[in-house]
Amino acid sequence: MSKTLMATAPNTETDFLPLEGTDYVEFYVGNAKQAAHFYKTAFGFQSIAYSGPETGVKDRASYVIRQNKLTFVLTTPLRAGNPMADHIYKHGDGVKVLALRVQDATKAWEETTKRGGKSYMEPTRLKDDSGEVVLSGIHTYGETVHLFVERKNYTGAFMPGFKEWKTVYNPTDTGLQYVDHCVGNVGWGQMNKWVSFYEEVLGFRNILSFDDNDISTEYSALMSKVMSNGNGFVKFPINEPAEGRKKSQIEEYLEFYDGEGCQHVALATNNIVETVTTLRDRGVEFLKVPSSYYDELLGRVGHIDEDLEPLKELGILVDRDDEGYLLQIFTRPVEDRPTLFFEIIQRKGAKSFGKGNFKALFEAIEREQELRGNL
Ligand code: FE2
Repeated sequence: MSKTLMATAPNTETDFLPLEGTDYVEFYVGNAKQAAHFYKTAFGFQSIAYSGPETGVKDRASYVIRQNKLTFVLTTPLRAGNPMADHIYKHGDGVKVLALRVQDATKAWEETTKRGGKSYMEPTRLKDDSGEVVLSGIHTYGETVHLFVERKNYTGAFMPGFKEWKTVYNPTDTGLQYVDHCVGNVGWGQMNKWVSFYEEVLGFRNILSFDDNDISTEYSALMSKVMSNGNGFVKFPINEPAEGRKKSQIEEYLEFYDGEGCQHVALATNNIVETVTTLRDRGVEFLKVPSSYYDELLGRVGHIDEDLEPLKELGILVDRDDEGYLLQIFTRPVEDRPTLFFEIIQRKGAKSFGKGNFKALFEAIEREQELRGNL
């Protein structure tokens, strides 16, 4: 057992990369029009902005959707034979950009590239009648990138190049609030390289570590380290497969994504029972743990405010740490490849990630891996 929890008090004086949170998550997908419809219908996002041939962008179409502080961009290439089309051919649908809000995107780029970050986009000033947005970016694991977004006075729908997307189809929201954390899966022996990357290039700290003794089942294992920025608004756990008797879920991901990439995005809610009930009714599929999980639950986590019955019915998991408890549930992969999925999480004081659920959860994933013939 090697769990370590360290202080995460913000230190703005020395933070060379002050982050205000996640600005948006951009997915490269095979059909952005249909993907936007799925996230609106199933997850309750609203139409915000569009960019494509009609707005003068000739090589792609992008749909921006939002729910509270959560913004997704769904982008698809319009032709073959370009890096975006190659990305989708290789990886399938997946996360391309984890965009971080900053006060100064030029400084963010300078500070990170001088510390060894590989530039993806030099500081770029975008302007239209609604104001100005500055973007810059660096590469992270696999083909994933971080963009730094400075949007001080911008009053338009999303950013220059996009027009407001108005539609009569506006499904109600599902109570999702913001990005809690985004997890990356990296290859064998690569975790510490990426831990150092987040420490040295972005000034993050390793706030929690799990080794294969913490995260192993009868068959498979993984290791994980949670990286956090100074104010704790941005958290990136990093997973690496570990040796087990059978193929771990991380290896399955790496095989089907054909490389390293974002494994899951955790979406926060203030009422997980209501949110998950709505998501389920709208067709979102969740992983199920055996009902025996609930027999020992209250003995393990103590008193919780929620009734046990709806948690059991929906398959919501609970874990407690020194500061409180959390409720969480994981979707099945949202594409046919067993790659990207979502976590729905409600924190009631707890700042951890549900270690007490790892075993039950990974056994549930392994049952699905076995059905796919990938265990
Ligand atoms: Fe998570």
